[in-house]
Amino acid sequence: MNGAEQSLDDQRSFGLADLPLREALRGRSPYGAPQLSAAVRLNVNENSYPLPDVVVDAVAKSVTGVLRELNRYPDRDAIGLREDLAAYLGHGLDASGVWAANGSNEVQQQLLQAFGGPERTALGFTPAYSMHPLLAAGTATGWVGARRDAGFGLSAHDAVAQVREHQPAVVFLCSPNNPTGTALPLEVVEAVAEAAPGIVVVDEAYAEFARAGTPSALTLLPRYPRLVVTRTMSKAFAFAGGRVGYLAAHPAVVDAIQLVRLPYHLSALTQAAARAALAHAPALLATVEAVKGQRDRIVGELRSAGIVTADSDANFVLFAVPGGGDQAALWRRLLDRGVLVRDVGLPGWLRVTAGTPEETTAFLDAVLAETAETAEAAEAAETAGADRVNGSANTTSPGGVS
Ligand SMILES: Cc1ncc(COP(=O)(O)O)c(C=O)c1O
Repeated sequence: MNGAEQSLDDQRSFGLADLPLREALRGRSPYGAPQLSAAVRLNVNENSYPLPDVVVDAVAKSVTGVLRELNRYPDRDAIGLREDLAAYLGHGLDASGVWAANGSNEVQQQLLQAFGGPERTALGFTPAYSMHPLLAAGTATGWVGARRDAGFGLSAHDAVAQVREHQPAVVFLCSPNNPTGTALPLEVVEAVAEAAPGIVVVDEAYAEFARAGTPSALTLLPRYPRLVVTRTMSKAFAFAGGRVGYLAAHPAVVDAIQLVRLPYHLSALTQAAARAALAHAPALLATVEAVKGQRDRIVGELRSAGIVTADSDANFVLFAVPGGGDQAALWRRLLDRGVLVRDVGLPGWLRVTAGTPEETTAFLDAVLAETAETAEAAEAAETAGADRVNGSANTTSPGGVS
């Protein structure tokens, strides 16, 4: 083998482990739900409805309007977009208390860059949104996975006790919580805001889907200057591909983010597209009630079939694998039936996004068929066991049933 071949071989065997990666990132997996092609994709909590024509036309016109000026950098402060987002949120907000970035993921990363970092910790109540600990790792912020109760609830008492114990620089509350779907009572947010020594972020990515009477933490902002509410256009607005997330907070928090944000982080195209979409907010949000209807249908029909589900204020439902089975196996079997749901790594549970009525029907048909097969298999196994006890060995394998 000559020297050139040797070095080509070296290059081929060179991998992640050979790079001088930061210790905190070694052995980690990138965030990512599998992007598989399935007939029915209900795994990443997107809005299943495409943009209505009126919005498509408005976005196209708005984006076309800035094309000639792409030789120039965009508005670095995205003032127009922030004004529009503040007007949408209401609660007396204006652009000074609103900040926007490429998805609420980037907003949360910026918050950790500004308020987390080495020798500081962030705390979240797991199971919650899996990006929170990943963003902490990426910003060299320590992570504390605090507990919820067995039913995934969180009381003010338990939340405050854990915040007091760990004294985190940043607390993440997720309401409605992903992956469980349930919104937090406002008194929990308030109790944490009182007790936390640093920034409290309430991730309200799914707020628009909350059941009636669920107040937003936006109502608390005037009283807690270290409280931050993050929102997104990816879910209710059906604008996940546009990549626009935002926060509402005291203007001082927005000032702090200016220290870490990249210059011109939001392209002129993104700003133009998002502003046109926001101008048609009612048309975009028109699907929210339909999605909530499918969400409630999933909860109702699963419960009627004896399948345990968490209460949902979001556009998805967390459900227990019937018969206490393995969630990875059921995930696979549903995919074999053309329905892609999400295995969030919670033993015995899977998460499904509420989509169109047709998608919901496909999901329910698949999961109920699987449940029936599991029940039949269990019954056959029981009969075989009873037969053996009675001395008449049954030669049919219960495995043959499914
Ligand atoms: C709780 C929660 N927060 C934030 C996000 C990120 O949304 P985006 O970055 O698209 O705004 C998601 C996406 O699934 C989420 O579930």
